[in-house]
Amino acid sequence: LHIAVLMGGWSAEREVSLVTGNGVADALESRGHRVTRIDMGRDVAQRLAEAAPDVVFNALHGTPGEDGSVQGLMDLMGLKYTHSGLETSVIAIDKELTKMVLVPHGIRMPAGTIVDSESLFAADPMARPYVLKPVNEGSSVGVAIVTRDGNYGDPIGRDVKGPWQEFDRLLAEPFIRGRELTTAVLGDEALEVTELRPKSGFYDYDAKYTDGLTEHVCPADIPAEIRAACLDMALKAHRLLGCRGCSRSDFRWDDEKGVEGLYLLEVNTQPGMTPLSLVPEQARARGIDYATLVERIVEAAL
Ligand code: DAL
Ligand code: MG
Repeated sequence: LHIAVLMGGWSAEREVSLVTGNGVADALESRGHRVTRIDMGRDVAQRLAEAAPDVVFNALHGTPGEDGSVQGLMDLMGLKYTHSGLETSVIAIDKELTKMVLVPHGIRMPAGTIVDSESLFAADPMARPYVLKPVNEGSSVGVAIVTRDGNYGDPIGRDVKGPWQEFDRLLAEPFIRGRELTTAVLGDEALEVTELRPKSGFYDYDAKYTDGLTEHVCPADIPAEIRAACLDMALKAHRLLGCRGCSRSDFRWDDEKGVEGLYLLEVNTQPGMTPLSLVPEQARARGIDYATLVERIVEAAL
């Protein structure tokens, strides 16, 4: 096949996307496919038209790229592409919209509230500790945990470093103590549960992409009931949102509360495929090597 690998772009996750995209492109070449690597710029429509691939591997992360914009363009151009389509992407990139779809179906997610920075300066939106995050970014870009003792400034202020300086629409969610779990879905199957144990205690951008800063336990050492709930919730969320090919659901689990303490945080429709990423690791745990995983994601788009 002739496959265009779309990567980079100008989201906050540009660098992660380049690592994903080049890894995917190398794997596709190793399987004998013809690959065109496209670093997305404003001329993306022209570049895609010139390449005229059989299928596009969408290796973009964040906004734009994971948010439906590029998916809509490719729909208009009549191009086949990997991962989720326009509507799913628009919903899943927005952590609040995602709740509107999933919570009525019984998927437990933290009760959040949208705040703007001005109201945040006036008062805490909820009892501390809580998490503040941009509603539509990935890789923990701009995420802050507002602790009881107010590490991030008390009150939160214009001059205090935090996501409120950069992002207008923030989501505040109660901080869930306990453990960080994740489950990938490939095709029609939830793969595994991985527990992330960041050395710093916070699985932030550095902990995600610096080798040695986070221990990955795959399969996670958790009770069978929690494992089953993660697999079930990830697959259900994938289906309810209409994800295609591959997705990854991230969880927090309050291990003092049993299954009632398991919360889905979000569904990633363009999960990372870097050497430290979780979907390739879970695929490997199920006997699927990286190149086979990439080819299976492509097949789901054809
Ligand atoms: N947003 C990053 C790429 C992930 O979910 O893996
Ligand atoms: Mg994410």
